[in-house]
Amino acid sequence: MRAGVYDSGVGGLTVVKSLLEYKLFDEIIYFGDTARVPYGVKDKNTIIRYSLEAVEFFKNFDIDIMITACNSVSAYAIDELKANAPFKVSGVIEPGVLALKNKIPNKDAKILILGTNATINSGKYERLLKEHGYKNIESLSPSLFVPIVEEGLFSGKVLKTVMEHYFDGVSQPDAIILGCTHFPLISRQIHKFFPKAILIHSGEAVVEFLEDEFGITETHLNTELKLFASENPDKLKEVANEWLKN
Ligand code: DGL
Repeated sequence: MRAGVYDSGVGGLTVVKSLLEYKLFDEIIYFGDTARVPYGVKDKNTIIRYSLEAVEFFKNFDIDIMITACNSVSAYAIDELKANAPFKVSGVIEPGVLALKNKIPNKDAKILILGTNATINSGKYERLLKEHGYKNIESLSPSLFVPIVEEGLFSGKVLKTVMEHYFDGVSQPDAIILGCTHFPLISRQIHKFFPKAILIHSGEAVVEFLEDEFGITETHLNTELKLFASENPDKLKEVANEWLKN
């Protein structure tokens, strides 16, 4: 089985990491729109237009399923993708909400959503969480986390200062949705601020969702990974070597 994994840039590699770990596919075609990252600050129509262009890209590869490993795309463009793609489509927001529901049955639990401006402004996580009965939800858009992760600053002074800035006054949540595929790379630092919180990661959530929703299960075969980027593919390959090792 062949999957196309799409993100605005390198962040979707955190989802690829989970897909590789669980050996769900024989082949993964990754496309990072590195020429136009970040998506999280763009408007809905632009994100839809870029996403439909990604569908055209994946049409060259005879994929079985397209996984949008980008919360911003999942927030604004998933319906258009489903309507226009000749293959199955999965986002990461519905999987994230279902993963949270499995881990946190208490509907009074405090849930903190961290995402890009696009993801938070779409209100999609909040709406789905409310549909599942959760009442105590706070949303936060720590926009500077994305360039900091792109810069490879996964710990240290800069990240700590920026986290203090965004997390100042935020009370301890029971669970945090890492609603941006860049954020798992700084999850250890986020956890230091909120040590009691359970973290929900798009990669792990999507693995569970692909099995439940599409019957895609572990193949025990090694996955061949092909990496494509709209700009500087060598940089994407370098980052992948670093992030996907071990
Ligand atoms: N990886 C994207 C997401 O999950 C965030 C990066 C961006 O803003 O493009 O929303």
